[in-house]
Amino acid sequence: MYNNCNKIVLTMILSFLSLSTVSSSGKKDIDVMTNATTQMTNPGYGEYSGDSKILIILFSSQSNNTIKIANAIAKVLDAEINSPQQVNLNDLQKYDLIGFGSGIFDEKHHVSLLELVDRLPPFPNKKTFIFSTSGISRNSLPEHDDPHTALREMLTTKGFNIIGEFNCVGFNNNSFLKIIGGMNKGRPNNDDVRQAEEFAGNLLYNVIDERLSGRDI
Ligand SMILES: Cc1cc2nc3c(=O)[nH]c(=O)nc-3n(C[C@H](O)[C@H](O)[C@H](O)COP(=O)(O)O)c2cc1C
Repeated sequence: MYNNCNKIVLTMILSFLSLSTVSSSGKKDIDVMTNATTQMTNPGYGEYSGDSKILIILFSSQSNNTIKIANAIAKVLDAEINSPQQVNLNDLQKYDLIGFGSGIFDEKHHVSLLELVDRLPPFPNKKTFIFSTSGISRNSLPEHDDPHTALREMLTTKGFNIIGEFNCVGFNNNSFLKIIGGMNKGRPNNDDVRQAEEFAGNLLYNVIDERLSGRDI
């Protein structure tokens, strides 16, 4: 359980010792300085969005952590950002790529995103990406505790093609963490933003690559 004190203490130690990394050829790339995790299905880099239409659906709470990551991704992709409440379900088909992001709350993305996805019609092969900020780095958790699982499974069930996932830690002063002034102060920081921009560049490469090769997206 998230509220398990041992897990929090362990995670804080892991965050403190976050100089560990894994091979960049692995499925999960971990930035040495920020411990931000990025998963891509098609690594590459691009900077030009052309005429692709890209939407980010974002929930960011008062602490405004995930919006920093959303803004960084949106800048690279020239994407619109909408809240789940602003989304017009009838408009979604026109986007080449749709991103879903929020903080992690009780080990999942925010309920407003999950409820929105639940209401979506099937979107076979629609390209999508998932991102989040969280108190505990996704990288430090075992696969069966992956906080992206709920949203990923819902999107996959609707037919979405998930081409990338991004997570970094965000400031968290939930509950008893207030007593110690919160954890992950200053996060997301500039390095997290840089990682998010790089992640977005890879997404762009994926979309443009499909366009150039004349396949449907
Ligand atoms: C009520 C509540 C529950 C949370 N639950 C979790 C959790 O289960 N796992 C986790 O890693 N972080 C958890 N957090 C921390 C948030 O995911 C983190 O602060 C995130 O950066 C918030 O993003 P936002 O500012 O964009 O809303 C929780 C925070 C709050 C306030």
